[in-house]
Amino acid sequence: MLYILLMMLSISRTATLGARRLLRAKTGALRAAALHAAPDDASSIYAIPERDVDEAAVHQLVERHVAQHATYLNKRPIAAHTRAAFQTAAEFARSRAAPLIIDAGCGTGRSTLKLSARHPDRTVIGVDRSEARLSKSNDAPDNALLLRAELGDFWRLLNDSNDLRVEETYLLYPNPYPKDKHLKMRFQGHASLPSLLQACGHKLTVRASWRTYLEEFRLACRRAGELGIRPDLVSKGPYELSDLHDPLTLFERKYAKAGVPVYELVLDSDR
Ligand SMILES: C[S@@+](CC[C@H](N)C(=O)[O-])C[C@H]1O[C@@H](n2cnc3c(N)ncnc32)[C@H](O)[C@@H]1O
Ligand SMILES: *[C@@H]1O[C@H](CO)[C@@H](O)[C@H](O)[C@H]1NC(C)=O
Repeated sequence: MLYILLMMLSISRTATLGARRLLRAKTGALRAAALHAAPDDASSIYAIPERDVDEAAVHQLVERHVAQHATYLNKRPIAAHTRAAFQTAAEFARSRAAPLIIDAGCGTGRSTLKLSARHPDRTVIGVDRSEARLSKSNDAPDNALLLRAELGDFWRLLNDSNDLRVEETYLLYPNPYPKDKHLKMRFQGHASLPSLLQACGHKLTVRASWRTYLEEFRLACRRAGELGIRPDLVSKGPYELSDLHDPLTLFERKYAKAGVPVYELVLDSDR
């Protein structure tokens, strides 16, 4: 009898201890998750591990895109909504007769508005394919315009127009598509790279929180230059941006808040 009582006591004690241990483990896990998720999920979600760039793969793709870009362009009809958006952009730009700044993949357009305030003597056009993001934008000042369009098509139309003068292009925090096999989806591996380089003006500024993206971008542009596509562009960076007190974009603001470092690559023509 006593033996059974003792055994029951011991079982319940083990059970309590077990439950307590489980609880402790759970809180620990929760705390760890909370830490990880802490500022806006940024540290866990946005920090993509850096890796070596597969230079051979980048070269191979760029070579193919440069060799085939004429065929690619002929085969790919321009989407009607982008043609219409470009028409609007062209009329706006002509009415202002100021050098153009293109904010490519502008999202909600925060950067377009910031750039237009910084450069009142320029025309700033923000382009994004997401209606949902664009619809969150604030009213644009006189020298800015936000448009929904496909960038690949938009760059082609820009490059083909003979009177629009693009001064510079910003490509801020493009979708990283971080997997190796998704190189083709990143702008540096995409068939639209020649159009981007030919339409970007004298200067192209790319920002990302993933340094590898920019290293890869730099290599792709160097190879394109060797193949005759904008050989005048000289690269600077990628370097870390230290002063982010006035973030240009919503993504940049998230990274800044979370203490996630961001990098910049500039391709500049030695005019
Ligand atoms: C990661 S978000 C960055 C948005 C903004 N630049 C920022 O930093 O907050 C990338 C943006 O690029 C746009 N985008 C990606 N590919 C595009 C394409 N081919 N044409 C137009 N927009 C594109 C997406 O819709 C998205 O808004
Ligand atoms: C850009 O324009 C140049 C000159 O008109 C042309 O040779 C080139 O094929 C165009 N590139 C693209 C990608 O449309």
